[in-house]
Amino acid sequence: MSFEARLAAARDALRFRFRGRDVALSQFSPRATVLDWLREDIGAKGTKEGCAEGDCGACTVVLARLKGGRLAYEPFNACILLLGQLDGAELITIEDLSTGGELHPLQQAMVDTHASQCGFCTPGIVMSLFAAYHSGERQTYASICDQLAGNLCRCTGYRPILAAALDVCDGAPTDRFAATAGGRAAALAALADGRDLFVGDEAAFFAAPASLDSLASLYARFPDATLVGGATDVGLWITKQLRDVKRVIWLGRVAELDGAGESADGALSLGATLSLEDAAPLLAAIHPDLGELMRRFGSKQVRASGTVGGNIANGSPIGDVAPALIALGGSVVLRKGGRTRALPLEGFFIAYGKQDREPGEFVVRVEAPRLGDDQRYRAFKVSKRLDEDISAVMLAIRLDLDGRRIRAARIACGGMAATPKRAANAEAALIGASLDEPAGWRAAVEAIARDFTPLTDMRATAAYRSAVAANLLKKALIEISGSAAPTRIGMLHAAE
Ligand SMILES: Cc1cc2nc3c(=O)[nH]c(=O)nc-3n(C[C@H](O)[C@H](O)[C@H](O)COP(=O)(O)OP(=O)(O)OC[C@H]3O[C@@H](n4cnc5c(N)ncnc54)[C@H](O)[C@@H]3O)c2cc1C
Ligand code: FES
Ligand code: FES
Repeated sequence: MSFEARLAAARDALRFRFRGRDVALSQFSPRATVLDWLREDIGAKGTKEGCAEGDCGACTVVLARLKGGRLAYEPFNACILLLGQLDGAELITIEDLSTGGELHPLQQAMVDTHASQCGFCTPGIVMSLFAAYHSGERQTYASICDQLAGNLCRCTGYRPILAAALDVCDGAPTDRFAATAGGRAAALAALADGRDLFVGDEAAFFAAPASLDSLASLYARFPDATLVGGATDVGLWITKQLRDVKRVIWLGRVAELDGAGESADGALSLGATLSLEDAAPLLAAIHPDLGELMRRFGSKQVRASGTVGGNIANGSPIGDVAPALIALGGSVVLRKGGRTRALPLEGFFIAYGKQDREPGEFVVRVEAPRLGDDQRYRAFKVSKRLDEDISAVMLAIRLDLDGRRIRAARIACGGMAATPKRAANAEAALIGASLDEPAGWRAAVEAIARDFTPLTDMRATAAYRSAVAANLLKKALIEISGSAAPTRIGMLHAAE
């Protein structure tokens, strides 16, 4: 079908559910955020703006979508969520929780436990907890800490907030959202028309193609458009760098991009728009370190919105997924027009800000090989804070063994160079070394200093980064050799 024919068939209004009604918007700026719309267009000011960069959670709203036939409630940072990303979802804000003058059970529990002082964080905290309340799981101390990792409270302190959450989030919601779930799910299903969305004109638009072919044809026509996965990077271009983003292609409606599966050679295949939250358990099944890494990726809000493809395509030297998958031997699949190609993930990162991606080409999926019986793996993230922080250094390693001897090694680091990069000298120095002879590891631990010339910046000094990378390599070897048990902050690491 030609581009013009596709455009003529496209829907020209954004549609979502809000407060029991369908909302249709045929005019809005492609750079408008959900927070702008709530506070400025409709005057719903319960949702607060704190940082406007996805860090504090004051702006947390919940989106309900149909996933696997059931309503999934997930928290999002409205400050960096583009308005167009609401297409097909139900938007729930703090004003929607009380019914007939009665507080929601969570709000009542917050009152009862004295969990709010200045109250600025409170709407965002309640919305994050509302998502947990509807998760279908009884919450624990650890799961609530994780749920609130992206919600900053600076004056009450978390103890009473946790007490409120643990009182109410028992996995069996009884609020009016639970009572109306069937009707609301049917209303969402009715919005899923499978049509392309195009609001605006050629100069400025928000588009959301519904198929891979539509996406390929639209992006070929507008190769300068900004692709958006979850907007956890792009949102900040708008709110912090004030970039005038005019043409937006949101990938969130392309059905073929958000699944996971198995490639022909048995690798785990992660669609480009699979959220980091949905990718986490799949990666954790490859190795528990990947589960821990993903739990420490941003916050629930960032993981619900951010995508696997966005984390690779942004080319960041401090992104967490790339080094983890490069060490595994992962690859990336790209498409431009009708042509698809695959390349080893490390080959995608050419230089700072430069990836092997042509104009009009996009990431379709990333493939992560599973580990064989003779392979061992470790991944470590070092950052200033445990949660909601970008890595200062990230190191991942895969060893292929002949018994206790190292046959091959793949070591990849983030935060150590202008791109995620392998440590070729350290890898070479490990070949032939024995897990039983630590003296033989010294050459590799020393060699890693020759592999990288890290920078000093606000996250760490060059000297610190070099020392950490060498120590992480040593730690991985000690753990893999079995001479010490794995230690990870915040979770009991399952034995291999
Ligand atoms: C508070 C906060 C915490 C964060 N914490 C972490 C962290 O712990 N670790 C970490 O690694 N990152 C972190 N990030 C960065 C960010 O969340 C991730 O890089 C995320 O994976 C980006 O995905 P996205 O879908 O939101 O990307 P987007 O913002 O949608 O896009 C990012 C870039 O990729 C391009 N793009 C997106 N999808 C595709 C595609 N399929 N093909 C081609 N190009 C594409 C976009 O055009 C853009 O250039 C954090 C960000 C925030 C705001
Ligand atoms: S305002 Fe801070 S996360 Fe949105
Ligand atoms: S109650 Fe003041 S920031 Fe949380």
